[in-house]
Amino acid sequence: MDSVQEISREQMEILIHEAQEAYKNAYVPYSHYPVGAATLWESGRIVSGCNVENASYGLTLCAERNAVFHAAFHGERRLKAVAIAVPTEAFPSPCGACRQVLREFSQDSLVILVNGKGQTKTTRLSVLLPDSFGPEFLG
Ligand code: THU
Repeated sequence: MDSVQEISREQMEILIHEAQEAYKNAYVPYSHYPVGAATLWESGRIVSGCNVENASYGLTLCAERNAVFHAAFHGERRLKAVAIAVPTEAFPSPCGACRQVLREFSQDSLVILVNGKGQTKTTRLSVLLPDSFGPEFLG
């Protein structure tokens, strides 16, 4: 396991703000459930994403995967933290597919969950996805 990642209070506030901004652009005509994700990489870069739905429902892309894939395009490979924001009172929780995609680029990143009241809960990827499979298994 890599060491536990910590980020500054300022970085955390920026990440939360970026995730809240990101859900404003969510394309959610079917679920009406906007989600924003902001990812922080070891380079210091922050890359955000929102969910983008499709009339063929199964093609929907979650906010977290949108952000991670965009960051990978920019050359990022080491994820430090992700903030996930929604406008509802209930806190968000990344789906199983997104947990595995986050795992591709970190073993134990910080995960910050943000509800519509601006309240936050923090957890770690290793808690959300224990005993996980990752790229190092492939040698
Ligand atoms: N969704 C996300 O974008 N991230 C999550 O963590 C959970 C689910 C999206 C997919 C779909 O557009 C909507 O939320 C309802 O499932």
